[in-house]
Amino acid sequence: MKSEELLKIIYDRRSVRRYERRPIPKDVLNAILEAGRLAPTARNKQPWHFVVVTKPELKRRLIFSSWNSFMEDAGAIIVGCGDSREKWAVVDVAIALENMVIAAEALGLGSCWIGYFEESEVKRALGIPDHLRVVAMIAVGYPAEKPEPPPKKSLDEIVHYETFRREEGKL
Ligand SMILES: Cc1cc2nc3c(=O)[nH]c(=O)nc-3n(C[C@H](O)[C@H](O)[C@H](O)COP(=O)(O)O)c2cc1C
Repeated sequence: MKSEELLKIIYDRRSVRRYERRPIPKDVLNAILEAGRLAPTARNKQPWHFVVVTKPELKRRLIFSSWNSFMEDAGAIIVGCGDSREKWAVVDVAIALENMVIAAEALGLGSCWIGYFEESEVKRALGIPDHLRVVAMIAVGYPAEKPEPPPKKSLDEIVHYETFRREEGKL
């Protein structure tokens, strides 16, 4: 793949909240999970587990707001869990989930991060052990929409070269 193609995947990705109700083939799901497995982790600890939820009754137990009811139509919900004893676990899991988001986009699927959930209820529903924290989830599936890009801050607003202050006397 050319570098422009990879960049286009990253630049054009949108959070998808409408999905076709069809399953994700096993090899496609595995390719997405593999992108997470190979992500960098602090000291290469790989302090994580990922629970893949496809059963409708279980998916419903991961929805805690009507805003997130679209999760039911996604082919899979991937629940990212980090070992709470490892300092960088939350960052590591977030990197892995974002790798999966990019891989899904490259494979023609859509995805959406899910940060709104009751951790204890997710853990109970999925039997996640005590020492793991649920960091976030991603919904993944075949997109039934291509959302317009939301407003994003410009590089000028967020990038600072060498020092934070751009001009003396002006923040
Ligand atoms: C940590 C995190 C948690 C999020 N949680 C939710 C969520 O619970 N429900 C939802 O619909 N979108 C959620 N999103 C998606 C954001 O709303 C979305 O990324 C943002 O509006 C920018 O849109 P874009 O992804 O299309 O660039 C979450 C994103 C992140 C990074």
